[in-house]
Amino acid sequence: MSQDRVSFRAPKGTRDVVPPESWRLQALYDLARSIFAGSGYAPVETPAFEHTEVFARGVGETSEVVTKQMYTFPDKAGRSLTLRPESTAPVVRAVLEHGLHRGALPVKLYYAGPQFRQERPQKGRYRQFLQVGIEAIGSARPTVDAEVVEIGHRFLRAAGVEPRLKLNSIGHPADECRLGYGRALVEYLRAHEADLAEEDRGRIDTNPLRTFDSKEPETRKVMEGAPVITEHLCPECKAHFDAVQDLLSRVGVPFTIDPRIVRGLDYYTRTAFEFVAGGLGSQDAVGGGGRYDGLARSLGGDDVPGIGFALGVDRILLAQSDDGGAPRPVEVYVVAVGDEAASPAFELVTRLRSAGIGADLDHLGRGMKGQMKDADRSGAHFAAILGSDEIAAGEVTLKDLEAGAQERVPIAEIERRVRP
Ligand code: HAM
Repeated sequence: MSQDRVSFRAPKGTRDVVPPESWRLQALYDLARSIFAGSGYAPVETPAFEHTEVFARGVGETSEVVTKQMYTFPDKAGRSLTLRPESTAPVVRAVLEHGLHRGALPVKLYYAGPQFRQERPQKGRYRQFLQVGIEAIGSARPTVDAEVVEIGHRFLRAAGVEPRLKLNSIGHPADECRLGYGRALVEYLRAHEADLAEEDRGRIDTNPLRTFDSKEPETRKVMEGAPVITEHLCPECKAHFDAVQDLLSRVGVPFTIDPRIVRGLDYYTRTAFEFVAGGLGSQDAVGGGGRYDGLARSLGGDDVPGIGFALGVDRILLAQSDDGGAPRPVEVYVVAVGDEAASPAFELVTRLRSAGIGADLDHLGRGMKGQMKDADRSGAHFAAILGSDEIAAGEVTLKDLEAGAQERVPIAEIERRVRP
């Protein structure tokens, strides 16, 4: 083996998506477009990197994503930039930059693309991973919460994943509920401080809610007996949460209330939810989201409420029970018999493609038998065979590869004959 070739291995924690899996990936993106756009969400594209403070202030200085997982680097001018670890803060930043929140509300957007987190890689957890997500910005009403959750649920089912929905409300930081609950939680954590994992003790003061997220067994044990936020919600937050539940029940979206869903990002208020799926091992969250009524404000913008979710595309691909998104076969495979047919075959393929008919041909100089085999492999419905006879007559031999029949047809008529 040569010593000086580059490593063929993609960087740790990243992966290639090659055929046939890439067909399923493409099918998921198509599905996202049709389901999200069909509910009034418009596509949005934001940069793969942002000024670091978008995440520091948006996602939160105490979240694990910001403290431990960001790919942050200075650019040549000394600005601190960060590869996006998530897209909600960037989307809200873009809405504020373009003043979209001053137009028709709510602003409903969807996105698809890579996110970057320096985590320990394992099954279903990567350092570059793909998300599709939606954000509805500018309405505080519970109907939009229910809309967002229902769309996520419907998308996952259509993608062949049977999701379980865990729903919670974590109240509002400005409301009595979060303050009162915060006090009760801190009191409980103080009383059990000695039993908490070392790294979780430090969170009691900075971000006590985060202890629900801890993966440390000692902390998890303590949290089993911890007070839960749903028992401390203020009347407004409780009414909002009740309304969301009622709406979801009306449209037949099943859920369980899980007061331990606090989510790993600091911007959440009120509704928080996660979709989990079987067969994924420990990384079983296929998606999550919630309300972030304070996010625009924490970026320095107007007070604009919002809610959304992001789904982990890599995990959906792992969890899919069927192989929806089979390769899309070409319609016609043009077979060139003899050297003199090579150029006319190329012309014919180009003509078919220009007419919007999927077509392919041989590029290796294979004989007729080899080309017919390749035509079968391509999944094409028809083989259009061009030899010197056909060329002289201005015709092609059109073979229906599914029915087996073949006939000569004038070359001018081929589009009409093969159009699906
Ligand atoms: P998140 O829970 O951090 O939320 O990520 C959403 C989903 O992305 C997860 O449920 C998981 O499926 C997938 N995911 C996260 N990290 C990884 C990883 N390292 N490897 C593979 N998949 C991963 C957010 O990102 C929020 N922005 C969601 C949101 C939108 N909230 C409101 N709007």
